[in-house]
Amino acid sequence: MNAIIEGRGLKRHYRRGAETVKALDGVDIAIRPGELVSILGPSGSGKTTLINLLSGLDAPTEGSLTINGRAVGGMSEDELVEVRRGVLGFVFQQFLLLPTLTVTENVELPLTFLGRRSEPARTREVLSWVGLGDRSGHLPSELSGGQMQRVAIARALMVEPRVLVADEPTGNLDSKAGRAVLELLKRLAKEKNLAVILTTHNTAFGYEADRIITLEDGRVRKEEGRRPDVV
Ligand SMILES: Nc1ncnc2c1ncn2[C@@H]1O[C@H](COP(=O)(O)OP(=O)(O)O)[C@@H](O)[C@H]1O
Ligand SMILES: [Mg+2]
Repeated sequence: MNAIIEGRGLKRHYRRGAETVKALDGVDIAIRPGELVSILGPSGSGKTTLINLLSGLDAPTEGSLTINGRAVGGMSEDELVEVRRGVLGFVFQQFLLLPTLTVTENVELPLTFLGRRSEPARTREVLSWVGLGDRSGHLPSELSGGQMQRVAIARALMVEPRVLVADEPTGNLDSKAGRAVLELLKRLAKEKNLAVILTTHNTAFGYEADRIITLEDGRVRKEEGRRPDVV
């Protein structure tokens, strides 16, 4: 099965005064449709750096990246936006919902940004996938943390991404709410053939992924689990 995102020899070095911080130091990785991939590793091991590179949000110091079959090295920001559009959806630890907008309005934001009209049927469908069909008129402040994160996931799904990128999606949640978010991500991967890349400090959650990549000092220390194209 073809990879949707493929990175080869990815490095990201930062200059800090006279020293060089090797946030990422030579990582090969491929993400395929429908697989849930977790990135584990201690704080500072390069997890966020890696997923920012894979998402095209940051450029590698060295190495190559393809997103949806297109080599993104040297692309302009406009070209990158075009490549990411419809391929990548994002979920963040802090949910990043707009507090004055209802659940429905938050979920429709990506359409607004793309200059598209609202699609009420699609919004209802996506909210039902995340189990919040009955909360559409609520404000974020009327929701629990777990519900807020599920709204954020619904928002990411509005543009029908093929890859959902989630940096510590359960980091601000208690274990029960975190569990519900993890189960949702697993179900979306399987039922919608959505690739999900998540970083987490929760090793138990991480080990429920199809593939588990553990980073240490910007390198892959180990890779476990099955590749979906190998039966
Ligand atoms: N913008 C930056 N400038 C300098 N160093 C950075 C920057 N971003 C990250 N780093 C460093 O890169 C390393 C990896 O960071 P990060 O990818 O955020 O790790 P993680 O997400 O695993 O906690 C850390 O040592 C961090 O301090
Ligand atoms: Mg991080």
